[in-house]
Amino acid sequence: MNSPPSTEDKARPWWATGVIYQVYPRSFQDSSGDGVGDLDGIRERLDYIQTLGVDAIWLSPIFPSPMADFGYDVTEFCDIDPMFGDLAAFDQLLREAHARRLRLLLDLVPNHSSIEHPWFKESRASRDSARRDWYFWRDPAPCGGPPNNWMSDMGGSAWEYDAATGQYYLHSFLKEQADLNWRNEEVRAAMTDVLRFWFDRGIDGFRIDVLWHCIKAADLPDNPPNPAFSSDQGEKFMVLQQHSTNQPEIHEIAHAFRTLADSYGERLLVGEICLPLDQLMTYYGQPDTPGVHLPFNFQLLDAPWDARVIAQLVQNYEAALPDGAWPNWVLGSHDAPRIAGRLGEAQARVAAMLLLTLRGTPTLYQGDELGIGRVAIPTDRIRDPQDLRQPGLGLGRDGARTPMAWNNQINAGFSDTEPWLPLHDDWPSRNVRAQAADPHSMLNLYRQLLALRRVHPALAAGHLRILPSGEEVLQYERRIGDDWLMVALNFGARARDVRCEQDMRSYRLLLSTVERRTFDGKLRPNEGVLLARRAR
Ligand code: NOJ
Repeated sequence: MNSPPSTEDKARPWWATGVIYQVYPRSFQDSSGDGVGDLDGIRERLDYIQTLGVDAIWLSPIFPSPMADFGYDVTEFCDIDPMFGDLAAFDQLLREAHARRLRLLLDLVPNHSSIEHPWFKESRASRDSARRDWYFWRDPAPCGGPPNNWMSDMGGSAWEYDAATGQYYLHSFLKEQADLNWRNEEVRAAMTDVLRFWFDRGIDGFRIDVLWHCIKAADLPDNPPNPAFSSDQGEKFMVLQQHSTNQPEIHEIAHAFRTLADSYGERLLVGEICLPLDQLMTYYGQPDTPGVHLPFNFQLLDAPWDARVIAQLVQNYEAALPDGAWPNWVLGSHDAPRIAGRLGEAQARVAAMLLLTLRGTPTLYQGDELGIGRVAIPTDRIRDPQDLRQPGLGLGRDGARTPMAWNNQINAGFSDTEPWLPLHDDWPSRNVRAQAADPHSMLNLYRQLLALRRVHPALAAGHLRILPSGEEVLQYERRIGDDWLMVALNFGARARDVRCEQDMRSYRLLLSTVERRTFDGKLRPNEGVLLARRAR
């Protein structure tokens, strides 16, 4: 981490210096008037994404789906759900994105398919079906009940009984999402064809859903009980997922994906992996058998918002990276509570500066650039199956999936019809048009940070050094060659000093998260500053 930047920094691939913007298609822009976003809607908003200053769009699933898990239950991996458009609309979106130098990533869902997928229907039809082994079918346990004690991530047993053939099938998520058997060579070949299909169409990469789930211990042994389980947690925590996830063979699969992606040139694979740091790092693979380019780093999503904790977390992460591995950071997603809801607007601004000034590829979630906060979803409008299945545990994800607000017109310019989820309460003022007109808005803070990343190679590719700092302050520098920057973030609501290694006059204020024009060596309450430092 502290070694000087090497010349190799000049030759980074696009995704290392770029920023990924996650679009949740259901909630970005509705063009068809059904209250649900679609591909033409996203295309109409490409100018917005381009002027925001990001480099790549990751689309959550857009494939045909009964929408039991809002697209993560796929019935055809090589097509578009009519709700979102069709392949022609997709091709047009891709063309127009590329014309604006925006890359496009799709969401690959290899662990499971919908039970409405023709593969599963055939598998389910009889014990002798040619596709029986594409999924996990097992007899009931000797004294009845599910074959083992695995729990679904959505609550309840991970097994569903199918009376027609007298066996259970495995579903790590909803019973509508049956797990595919990655020990079956035909499954691997079929999914490889899916990757090829989209790469051939010209996409720039995939985010890979629940990669660490994709292969299970061969004989499906019981998982160990979790001694720390408490009833205020989701039922998935009743057992430790020792045999149902993160098996050694997953790395062969990741490597096969990688080999295929690399054969298309500079394509990106981002893996969704929720594991402790040491395990997460293994998903980068080995030098001769690389894995995904970026195993998602979700640590900021639930770390306590404390300057010391975050400093340590950054240091530990940097220290754990294997040689040549590129870091990445995530601050929000369609699965996690909104950052501004968690921290409040002032600290969400500090968090924006953190996300966009740390070393590595940031992923920014739609709507966080407006500072959308906590959205209370009325009970009769809850749609998230995870919330509906285990009510009262605070597991609902709808609050992070509410529509984008574009203006203060009907339905915030998202749709002519009532949207599938409610808007945030303050949408009449917290929307793109209003914030674009306010130089100090969250949107303009994001735009300025993203613009600074483009002009400062230190931010895009420089090395990072955590600096000594006072209470409630996180300070670090980013440097490449003569481009030498310092970031100081005040995590608290009291004014604090910045520790300067040089005379204060050798620092120039590039950006503050609050309104100010000059740097006086102090941080205001809840302020983050980005400073340019004169090289000695
Ligand atoms: C992770 C996705 O992000 C989440 O939304 C989904 O419910 C699960 N994977 C299952 O596919």
